[in-house]
Amino acid sequence: MANPISSQSAQPTHTEQSESSLFPTYARYPIAFAKGKGSYLWDTDGKKYLDFMCGIAVTNLGHAPDTVIDKLKNQLDQLWHTSNLFHIPNQEQAAQLITANSCGDAVFFCNSGAEANEGAIKLARKYQQKVKGEERYEIITFGQSFHGRTLATLTATGQDKVKEGFHPLPAGFVTVPLHDLDALKSAVNEHTAAIMIEMIQAEGGVYPVEPEFMQHIVDLCNEHGLLLIVDEVQTGMGRTGKMFAYEHYGIEPDIFTLAKGLGSGFPIGALVGKAFLKEAFVAGSHGSTFGGTPLATAAVIATIETMQEQNVVEQAATMGTYLQEQLQAKIGNHPFVKDIRGKGLLIGIECDGPVGELVTVGQEKGLLFITAGPNVIRLLPNLLVTQAEVDQAVDMIKDIIEAYAPIVNNSTIINGK
Ligand SMILES: Cc1ncc(COP(=O)(O)O)c(C=O)c1O
Repeated sequence: MANPISSQSAQPTHTEQSESSLFPTYARYPIAFAKGKGSYLWDTDGKKYLDFMCGIAVTNLGHAPDTVIDKLKNQLDQLWHTSNLFHIPNQEQAAQLITANSCGDAVFFCNSGAEANEGAIKLARKYQQKVKGEERYEIITFGQSFHGRTLATLTATGQDKVKEGFHPLPAGFVTVPLHDLDALKSAVNEHTAAIMIEMIQAEGGVYPVEPEFMQHIVDLCNEHGLLLIVDEVQTGMGRTGKMFAYEHYGIEPDIFTLAKGLGSGFPIGALVGKAFLKEAFVAGSHGSTFGGTPLATAAVIATIETMQEQNVVEQAATMGTYLQEQLQAKIGNHPFVKDIRGKGLLIGIECDGPVGELVTVGQEKGLLFITAGPNVIRLLPNLLVTQAEVDQAVDMIKDIIEAYAPIVNNSTIINGK
């Protein structure tokens, strides 16, 4: 057996997947980053990139934000981990910051978006079964949604590709097409516990939920005593120009979930619920060894305090509007561009063909962005991105689309050459 220690080098190497000691669960680009600051990343060869993907909507305050570094460094010197068997003052403070700025009253901290959604599903079932009886367990979700990779959350996800090979899947989930009110109404029955939805389907193609449909969901929940779970894992923490995307709709979910931007890149997730749900999650109902450590919740405190001190949400709203306007003006009429949509700094550019290769062209030119489904370019800059950086990114996207889109349309492009 090869010695794993002696074969490690100080610099990351672009090993072939077959040579790697990692499971090949990711189709990785041949780039490794060494450093990040603000809107920029530098790879191990020193090349600089303007980052319009932010680790997929995670580094919302930019890379290595000073305020979060200071707080984390201080906490690193003091205390990292105790146990949820003890009081954790940082956890209390982080929870208070979340509830003071949302419609929620109680928080449970975990470690990722999938875990937050898993907990939300458990909370919904626990509450409904306590209040309405054992038979209330079903969760209704929507086609093209994405809720995570655990068995329950991939079952909740409305995309077959994430479920392949993992059967049998947990029972108690029903998926209906988004915006199909008849299908939704027929899915509601005596077993329904909750409806779970993303306000903007991010992974699924940057599709905002239509406000009228959302109102129908709220009405159905009220009529049938269902809980409304909003998955804010990608849309929350200011990403859409509001602290939480449900605010755009004038609604209040019973439960919402957070992760990604919650710790500015430090891993942490949370589920947030209304006060009446406290009776369902009592001692022993749910737990997590690492959920809400002193260190992780220090990152949450620093993130939210920084957002407040620097008016980050307002800046995201302003810059999001500017980004959409600039995209409309510069590429809106290009025949390859079918639609530009989204809210705040979660923007999708739907194209008339696959865009995967355009991502690689962007990387070669020093701009990082990602896709959302095969035909949609997804832009997720940090929430403090400047106008000059937006201008630079839009010009680069314009160049990429003008130079490469017709070739992409004929499917002959190979790595932008
Ligand atoms: C809306 C949504 N929910 C859940 C998840 C899963 O989050 P995680 O990868 O942290 O488990 C994601 C991740 O992309 C997401 O976008």
